[in-house]
Amino acid sequence: MVPAAGLHFILFFGSVRDPRNADRVAPYVIKAFEDRNVTVTVFDAKEMHFDSVIKPIQYYGRNETKPAELMKFNTEIKKADGFIVMTAEYHGQIAPGLLNLMNQFPPNSYVFRPSAIVAYSKGRFGGIRAAMQLRTYLADIGTLQMPAILSIPFVEQAFTVDAKTENADVNKSMNLLADQLIWYAEAIKLQREESGYRCEDCYDDNNLASKGLPYKNKKWSK
Ligand SMILES: Cc1cc2nc3c(=O)[nH]c(=O)nc-3n(C[C@H](O)[C@H](O)[C@H](O)COP(=O)(O)O)c2cc1C
Repeated sequence: MVPAAGLHFILFFGSVRDPRNADRVAPYVIKAFEDRNVTVTVFDAKEMHFDSVIKPIQYYGRNETKPAELMKFNTEIKKADGFIVMTAEYHGQIAPGLLNLMNQFPPNSYVFRPSAIVAYSKGRFGGIRAAMQLRTYLADIGTLQMPAILSIPFVEQAFTVDAKTENADVNKSMNLLADQLIWYAEAIKLQREESGYRCEDCYDDNNLASKGLPYKNKKWSK
């Protein structure tokens, strides 16, 4: 396979606390991908100030003005080659800020790209209970889930405040997850270029969600 050059991923995370352990993990995850020549844009719920899902983009009418900032972020999502989605575990659940952030945008903006889960917690579960829910969510918005998950138990022991770890299990899982996400992103990117379909093709900003997903119209057999 000819490797697809210039992959670009988005890292989403939803902890809005101060201080927060997300800041121990996120720089480490970003570095793992940048070391593999992937660029990463951060969508951080704390920085982006989406308080609650009032009106996702797909619920604006054809003649309604859509918020310029939302449209800008939406374009970035549509252009990404893959997603890294990071969550803490709050009573066994996904961090609510993460869903608030990701639900601002339509599934059609995420569809046909791979997604990788990073989960962490203070306790021994390593965020895995939230990660299992996140798998369902990420499938529902049309992304392809990686077999591996990076799950980090006892995050405050595993990572220093400046995002360093010497935990061999964490490093091994990070490497596996990064390699898988890049492999799937390259494969999907090649298919997208080959078939002519991109996620932009299923989403019309002036007449939202009117085009439908491309597979609905595609004849798979010759
Ligand atoms: C509301 C709340 C619920 C939590 N529930 C769990 C839990 O179910 N299991 C666990 O191991 N840790 C739990 N914790 C501890 C978190 O894993 C820990 O605080 C983690 O650092 C949260 O991520 P953050 O600091 O990036 O927000 C909880 C923390 C909060 C604030």
